[in-house]
Amino acid sequence: MVEYTMKRSLILALLICISCTQTRHNDKLQNKKIGIESRNNSSLVVVSHPLMQHFLCILRNRNTKPSDFRASLEKISEFLIIEATKNLHTTVVDVETPIEKTICKCIDPNQKIIIAPILRAGIAITSVAEKIIPDAVIQFLGMYRNEKTHEPVWYYNKLPATLDNPSDIKVFICDPMLATGGSAYEAIKIFLDKGIKEENVTFVCVICTPEGLEKLFHAFPKITIVTASLDRKLNEQAYIVPGLGDAGDRIFNTAK
Ligand code: PRP
Ligand code: URA
Repeated sequence: MVEYTMKRSLILALLICISCTQTRHNDKLQNKKIGIESRNNSSLVVVSHPLMQHFLCILRNRNTKPSDFRASLEKISEFLIIEATKNLHTTVVDVETPIEKTICKCIDPNQKIIIAPILRAGIAITSVAEKIIPDAVIQFLGMYRNEKTHEPVWYYNKLPATLDNPSDIKVFICDPMLATGGSAYEAIKIFLDKGIKEENVTFVCVICTPEGLEKLFHAFPKITIVTASLDRKLNEQAYIVPGLGDAGDRIFNTAK
């Protein structure tokens, strides 16, 4: 318990440090006009490109209509997926251009990749990911949060009972929101139970919270989380503050 409390304090200190340095870092970044920037501390990567912030601003705005919300989420997802997949294996191939023979690198066709959207909102990131990552397997994970307990409730899971060579598979779990971390925890655990290595799991989200990060890194210290923003906290209803509201409702225009 003491050890956990100490780890907890360390993680929180680390998170506070990351969120505090973000703005200064972005200023530097704008000056340097670098393409995609990531602040990488252990396994949390906050992608803070100015365009990410621009589109995040549109997502956060309560007056953004669903079609614009989806379009901005799509753009953010491209950056997130490119960052999340930066360590995929490549292989060398001979190619003949119209000018001469040359050597290129392509994604290793033997690299097994699973993209796993958490329904519903994860579909929006996955629709981008499946266009960028060749030959990935898509595994839908159906869960919703119980409104009172905020615990995830499973309603769809068609993962096969066993996976071939699971230790070679890279998994990208997609969900715009990491709030309490309950849904992400369930999703990650189901893959680890099938023999996927923790270090081969990447959770891709648009917004995360200190509470969610703490839950995931405590349980799965070797995973990677790629995000556009580390927000301040959860409110009493376990919504992210400042957040963007209910991601699924805003994507699919189902808000009451
Ligand atoms: C949202 C979100 C995540 C979950 C995050 O989904 O898309 O899946 O909540 O919350 P957590 O970190 O506290 O588990 P929701 O349950 O609202 O379902 P929906 O996508 O179908 O709207
Ligand atoms: N799920 C959402 O869609 N938004 C939140 O703020 C928290 C959970």
